[in-house]
Amino acid sequence: MKYPKEYLDEIKTRLKVSTVVSKTVKLKKRGKEFVGLSPFKTEKTPSFTVNDEKEFYHCFSTSEHGNIFDFVMKTQNLRFGEAVKILSNLAGMQPYTFSKQDEERENKWKLYKSICSNFSEFYKNELFKNENSIKAKNYLKARGLTGVDVKKFNLGFVTENLDYYEILKKDFDEEIIKDTGLFYFDEKKKKYISRFRNRIIFPINNISGNVIGFGGRIVEDNKNLAKYINSPETPFFKKGSNLYNLDKARKLSNKLEDVYLVEGYMDVIGLSKNGIENTVANLGTALTSKQIQILNQFYNHIIICFDGDQSGYKAALRAAENIIGEIKPDKKISFLLLEDNLDPDNYVNKYGKEKFLEISNQKIIPIHKFIFEHYMTQTTESPSSRAIFEKKLREIASNIKDSFVKKYTLEYFLEKVSELTPNINSKFNKNYKKFAKSLAKTKSYYNETKSLKSFEIKEFSFLYVLFAKPKLISENFHLIDNVKLYSEENKQLFAEILNQSENLLNLDLQKLNVDKNLINRVMNYASVKHIISKNLNDDEKILEIFIEIIQDLKNYELEQRISELESKFSEDMNETTFNEIKELKKQQKMN
Ligand code: UTP
Ligand code: MN
Repeated sequence: MKYPKEYLDEIKTRLKVSTVVSKTVKLKKRGKEFVGLSPFKTEKTPSFTVNDEKEFYHCFSTSEHGNIFDFVMKTQNLRFGEAVKILSNLAGMQPYTFSKQDEERENKWKLYKSICSNFSEFYKNELFKNENSIKAKNYLKARGLTGVDVKKFNLGFVTENLDYYEILKKDFDEEIIKDTGLFYFDEKKKKYISRFRNRIIFPINNISGNVIGFGGRIVEDNKNLAKYINSPETPFFKKGSNLYNLDKARKLSNKLEDVYLVEGYMDVIGLSKNGIENTVANLGTALTSKQIQILNQFYNHIIICFDGDQSGYKAALRAAENIIGEIKPDKKISFLLLEDNLDPDNYVNKYGKEKFLEISNQKIIPIHKFIFEHYMTQTTESPSSRAIFEKKLREIASNIKDSFVKKYTLEYFLEKVSELTPNINSKFNKNYKKFAKSLAKTKSYYNETKSLKSFEIKEFSFLYVLFAKPKLISENFHLIDNVKLYSEENKQLFAEILNQSENLLNLDLQKLNVDKNLINRVMNYASVKHIISKNLNDDEKILEIFIEIIQDLKNYELEQRISELESKFSEDMNETTFNEIKELKKQQKMN
């Protein structure tokens, strides 16, 4: 939902930056500005300034900069919509109501989150109080969780023999209960059944901390049941755009540099229990670019730490390929591969926090390296396998959106690939040296070509073909009938050629009455000279090339004409001019 600019401007007009900032930062007036201690850094001398006139704040020690919305978002770790709500309230304005549809959705959302949080609360109580929950309680205890951990993550147990659907029906419409995905219709029993019955539930919160879905684990191993199930996709629970524990983990981004991204609910809880709370988990589906974008709003470095078994490795690789497109110059994505089939939960419980942090420091691999090393283990020495290898790497790099990161990732891949072809490389190096030497000689040539316009070089090519194959062109004279050259010198040269050679019938360069330098320039700079001299006896090929050159010249002419007319049209707005432009553009398309 997008707030209209006027509404946001109204908030800004009503609230001075200093009013908003001074709620959390002590400000002193200094000239036109206010100064105070930075809320983004611990400091003794004030480096934080507020300018009400210009409507922004600026922090000289961290370069943080922005308006009142940025300030509230950054200091309170809120999203834009939440900041707007707080500030409109502070400004004494009504909360913004969106269109009818938005409003309906907003109402549904209120009911939806109310059902989810009721459900969560209810079964949290059941876990603690209902004697049928004893197995679940024992299970959690055996996994090392205390009452504090359970409360922190609001775990619950969905006891059987209780028709919570009927309880909900007293307060909510059936439609919205169905929307939550908490129940499914049992065709045999002809009634709604709790999806999570007999499971320990892990409430999944959205970024603001509202319950929007659940994960549920069985308590006793049973091959016929999935170990975990998750809420289905619902109107308010999209797995690809949410992460387990993000609401808590994002709050630490002021203090911590990186965030761990793990596979399972229990990994998050295990790490958190061991003092590593900057952790989120994806929700039983493949990692998405969207999830990376969301995490990047808070953290610059994402460490992906999946299970240390084969399926964890595969999932990590798939994740790497899915998200590499998102890497930005100022963001990092790394992988931490655990050994011995351990997952982060097992690892940290076995070795402790310090050891986990130590290996995160020493063993993480940046995403591009992880991908390279994986495909490197897949390739054999056979040329086809190597070819597939290189193609795959090029393809992966080509998906990167940021052009600089793309360039350097490709460079990294190709550099590594070239290590596999030492022979080609040494030859390349030798040639390169030769090339570098001759470069000095060609420098003046280069400087001159640089000053030539592309159409001039095209014209040289045109003239070059006349010099090289005058007979052939005279036999196809219709081709050059309407050719128009633009450069004054080339135009003269062309006229002189036709004049002196009787329309190319007997061309003699020596007899041309022009500056010899002009002829030399054509000979030197015509870009087609190599291809023409190579195919000198293949008339068909030469005509084909010649026609292409003429086509290019004509297109250039069209372009010139169009741009002339366009500037004319912008002045006179004349209908005829407009139609002429349209006509020329049509021709241009046909060429
Ligand atoms: P794991 O099986 O690795 O979870 O699956 P875990 O946390 O290590 O399990 P335990 O409790 O310690 O044995 C990781 C994640 O994959 C999804 C869940 O989101 C789980 O947290 N998953 C796993 C499913 O969706 N269904 C399954 O059957 C298993
Ligand atoms: Mn696991």
